[in-house]
Amino acid sequence: MNTKYSNLFESLTFKNGITIKNRVVMAPMTTWSSNDDYTVSDQEVNYYKRRVHGVGLVITGCTHVQPNGIGFTHEFAAYDDKFIPSLRKLADAAKSGGAPALLQIFHAGNKALPSLTPNGDVVSSSAVETEATAFAPSVLPRELSNDEILEVIHAFGETTRRAIEAGFDGVEVHGAHGFLLQNFFSPFFNRREDEWGGSLENRLRFPLAVIQEIKKVIKNHATKPFIFGYRISPEEQGGYGIEDAYELIDRLVEQDLDYIHVSLDDVSSTPRGIKDIKTRLELILEQINGRVPVMAAGSMVTADDIASALDKGLSLAAVGHTLIMNPDWVEKVQNGKETEIKTAINTSQVSDLELPEKLWGIIQASGPWFKIED
Ligand SMILES: Cc1cc2nc3c(=O)[nH]c(=O)nc-3n(C[C@H](O)[C@H](O)[C@H](O)COP(=O)(O)O)c2cc1C
Repeated sequence: MNTKYSNLFESLTFKNGITIKNRVVMAPMTTWSSNDDYTVSDQEVNYYKRRVHGVGLVITGCTHVQPNGIGFTHEFAAYDDKFIPSLRKLADAAKSGGAPALLQIFHAGNKALPSLTPNGDVVSSSAVETEATAFAPSVLPRELSNDEILEVIHAFGETTRRAIEAGFDGVEVHGAHGFLLQNFFSPFFNRREDEWGGSLENRLRFPLAVIQEIKKVIKNHATKPFIFGYRISPEEQGGYGIEDAYELIDRLVEQDLDYIHVSLDDVSSTPRGIKDIKTRLELILEQINGRVPVMAAGSMVTADDIASALDKGLSLAAVGHTLIMNPDWVEKVQNGKETEIKTAINTSQVSDLELPEKLWGIIQASGPWFKIED
């Protein structure tokens, strides 16, 4: 290994005592590939097994905690105990490389797919129409009632219990990408006038209640250390900016989490509307100031990209696209073969990549999302 990459291979011990062998994390990535009954498919199992040997930590794609929280087609489910055997299958695959594995849990909120939710019901903090995205249509969601909010909080706890029973080493709450947790924090989408909306304190109430519920479940059900992380988007398109996110971050820091995960398109991007020469990542690292380990994802492709982010104080680098294209990314760097890291998917090598058919279909249909070459 080239010694300039030695910081990638430093171990990290979470506050709960779990140690991971290096700083490279498999980013949470949906595969759109469950069976029709939302159980984990064999193709998904093979996809994970192919990618989990080198990384220090594995995070699964998101799974919905309630039936109306589904955000993607063929997204494996975790909203009922009947899914525990399926989750166990995924936990076994995700842990098969020796690294701890976390289940990413979420509710898609106003980005849920009406074609897949019971009775087409789409819920959010408030009834504010959404814009269509690449994966979800424009909808006018229904505002959750107080009782329903308490049910969602309970559902996050129940899904955490299932993650424990299925053998996962932790959970990551997906509070990013405009899904339900963000629908509550967002002053744009949250127009409520009760205790769940309005002031900053009220908009934070739902995310913080979900965290409390999960902590309670971990305390009552986990028989060994269990990792608990929380993913955020530091800015919202048309909504909150990075300075608002600092408030969220500060409150998350107080929650005694194992890490905070910042989802960025690009770790070298700068914040919207702020004439600052610092990147979003640098600003967030300054804000957190070593109070909790920070994970970030966003266009880290080469070993140099990760080494330089770690040098800035990042604790953990989550990699997405590059791990899809290079299942042995870590091994390549470890063996001094970083020049062999591919930046495109070669169609003749798709079977070696163990890409589930549906994921490969999405990749091919998604234009510039991935570079494909013949
Ligand atoms: C195929 C694919 C599926 C994704 N699914 C999820 C997901 O389920 N949950 C999530 O938080 N982010 C998801 N993401 C975002 C990634 O976790 C990551 O933040 C993003 O791809 C940027 O990192 P990268 O540039 O290394 O790919 C997905 C990304 C890709 C490419």
